[in-house]
Amino acid sequence: MRMYDLIMKKRNGESLTREEIQFMIREYVADNIPDYQMSAFLMAVYFQGMSEEETLAMTQEVAHSGEMVDLTAIQGVTVDKHSTGGVGDKTSLIIGPIVAACDVKVAKMSGRGLGHTGGTVDKLESIPGFQTTLTRESFFDVVNKVGFSIIGQSGNLAPADKKLYALRDVTATVDSIPLIAVSVMSKKLAAGNDCILLDVKTGSGAFMKTVEDAITLAKEMVAIGENAGRKTVALITDMDIPLGHNIGNSLEVIEAVDTLRGHGPADLTEVCVDLAANMLFLGGKGSLTKCKTMVREVIDSGEAFNRLVAMVEAQGGDSAVILDTDKFAKAPYAHEVKALKTGYITSMDTESCGIVSFMLGAGRETKDSEIDYSAGLILHKKVGDFVKEGDSLATMYASREELFPEAKKRYEKAVRIEDDREDEKPLVYARVTKDGIERLA
Ligand code: URA
Repeated sequence: MRMYDLIMKKRNGESLTREEIQFMIREYVADNIPDYQMSAFLMAVYFQGMSEEETLAMTQEVAHSGEMVDLTAIQGVTVDKHSTGGVGDKTSLIIGPIVAACDVKVAKMSGRGLGHTGGTVDKLESIPGFQTTLTRESFFDVVNKVGFSIIGQSGNLAPADKKLYALRDVTATVDSIPLIAVSVMSKKLAAGNDCILLDVKTGSGAFMKTVEDAITLAKEMVAIGENAGRKTVALITDMDIPLGHNIGNSLEVIEAVDTLRGHGPADLTEVCVDLAANMLFLGGKGSLTKCKTMVREVIDSGEAFNRLVAMVEAQGGDSAVILDTDKFAKAPYAHEVKALKTGYITSMDTESCGIVSFMLGAGRETKDSEIDYSAGLILHKKVGDFVKEGDSLATMYASREELFPEAKKRYEKAVRIEDDREDEKPLVYARVTKDGIERLA
């Protein structure tokens, strides 16, 4: 078999067989296929796409390039949740404890921040002492005792994806729907959960800028999951506005705690209730309506919050900051961004909001740079709100005052204020299952 022939086949719009895909991935990981040939193949996929059989075969091959996590030591059904990335997306910190409190297990491996989007592992590491690296035995132990655990993704999970992603990043082939589907689902299959809930974001802060693209990606990922024997559902959720009010690592943990205590922002609470209910549905807990009721009950009773405290303690974290979030270390400097005119906020460039948080120190410049856990911003006004000139739009937090002027300029540009109010956008657009698409808005 020759890589040259496989590139030509894809370039001409034909489908590769499972054996051909197996050969290509294995030889690429073994460094027997050079990057320039793989780049040509990826670009051919970008233009020609892939069939359902091809994406399944490629996902399974990429998943099997590293460790296939065996979760059989965990008692009960395990359900994973994956978000395609957003700004202010702290849903994993809220949903994990809720689902655990309803008796479905969550054994989650999460990533670090990527570009303008934050990562759950970075958020958790803002809790003093919290360990995101556990042995497999300790990980299973925490899940069995508390009901959920979140750790960092092991370096050996789908290593072929790491190599392919790095190549896509420099060859303008990241935004290919089949390649994103393969990349996300290979890691999900390798992580070993019985069921997978996908939170596919759409809007200015997401990879998928339109609802229709998000649905196409969701359909491909659901098909891969189901064909690989995992129960899979996707929700298409809005990322045209940051989720909740807080952006930045410890600021997001604080907002997650507020939400679990029943007084979080309405948008964040609604999305979390929907996501958690769908995870319970996948976990066999009954109809969606029944699952939603269960979710609200464990928030109201405080049981979901108790699970977060228990998980933090089980992973070496100082639960004092969860029990009283005023104890989180504060950024030494704060700066208000004020409205430049009077009117209604009609849009917020969500990607820019993520970049502002990054500029304040909440993200990494390079893979190895340090994060400022207390840096970020709190949004006081969002789309639909009326503001008067001079009203505070947001408060920015940083450890160095000189970071404010540039960040402020960027934030002012990201927020559009106009005379007329725009219609509110839905938070959840659609639900995609193996049976089809249910439009919710
Ligand atoms: N997230 C991933 O894990 N992979 C992609 O290709 C895009 C987003």
